[in-house]
Amino acid sequence: MHLGLIGCGNIVKTLLGFLDAPDAPDVTRITLLVRAGQCDRAQDEIAAMTPKAEIVEETADLIAARPDLIVEAAGHAGVAEHVGPCLEAGFDVVVVSVGALSDTDLAARLETAARAGGARIILPAGAVGGIDIVSALSASGEVTLTYRGTKPPKAWAGSPAAEALDLDTLESAAVFFTGTAREAAAQFPKNANVAATLALAGPGLDKTRVELVADPAAPGNVHSYEVVSPAAKVRVEIENLPSNGNAKTSVATIYSVLREIRNHIGPMVI
Ligand SMILES: NC(=O)c1ccc[n+]([C@@H]2O[C@H](COP(=O)([O-])OP(=O)(O)OC[C@H]3O[C@@H](n4cnc5c(N)ncnc54)[C@H](O)[C@@H]3O)[C@@H](O)[C@H]2O)c1
Repeated sequence: MHLGLIGCGNIVKTLLGFLDAPDAPDVTRITLLVRAGQCDRAQDEIAAMTPKAEIVEETADLIAARPDLIVEAAGHAGVAEHVGPCLEAGFDVVVVSVGALSDTDLAARLETAARAGGARIILPAGAVGGIDIVSALSASGEVTLTYRGTKPPKAWAGSPAAEALDLDTLESAAVFFTGTAREAAAQFPKNANVAATLALAGPGLDKTRVELVADPAAPGNVHSYEVVSPAAKVRVEIENLPSNGNAKTSVATIYSVLREIRNHIGPMVI
């Protein structure tokens, strides 16, 4: 399989390591799209990790390479810049920065591009689980979904939480945001992908209630949510370990991307 990747941060680099494992999906070639001006640095860094990757800086070069599947892990800016043209050219894209779809215009543009290209926008479960039942229950009538995202204070550094709280001295759990999933995704673009994923699978970005919490006693990045629908009630709590390269990103997210790759090429999809 020829894999296209957008971004060269924590998720992509960790994924490259996972793809080296003996039982990993059979990826024989990688085309990796980096931000303009970062090609030389990425070239050295990535060459030390895998001989299979070619680095490109232009969306057109990624498209010209004709990968079998493209995975975006480049943040909201990366989605806005590259994903539309890839879809329009007919390539399925796994969009890891799900929160980017809280931008109504961008989401509409991507849907139009996907229809035009006959391609699909694939939203991975990412750091959360149970997306299958949340998505299935969305057809069962009125659904409510309440999500609570709890992370250690350092995982909220650089976000508006740092203005609301003194993250360095926090001694107990503090709720610093309550609102909709759309508001959470807009205000916490690097931290609210789970809220956006649950919302898109469930009652939508404006109807999903979100609470964000900094907790010095948190055992990791904890995602809990409750769904009430005419067909079922669901309660889920997941304790994720942060990835080594980025405390904001749970390592389970990267396994979830690996799963999308496996499902794309394997004989069975699960
Ligand atoms: N779906 C989920 O559950 C979930 C979980 C964790 C992280 N994420 C999202 O995945 C994305 C990547 O996470 P990460 O931990 O690897 O972040 P990171 O900050 O380590 O890496 C981001 C990479 O994107 C690159 N980039 C930024 N703008 C770009 C552009 N316009 N074109 C090309 N490359 C660009 C950066 O140079 C960097 O290499 C983030 O948006 C993050 O919010 C999603």
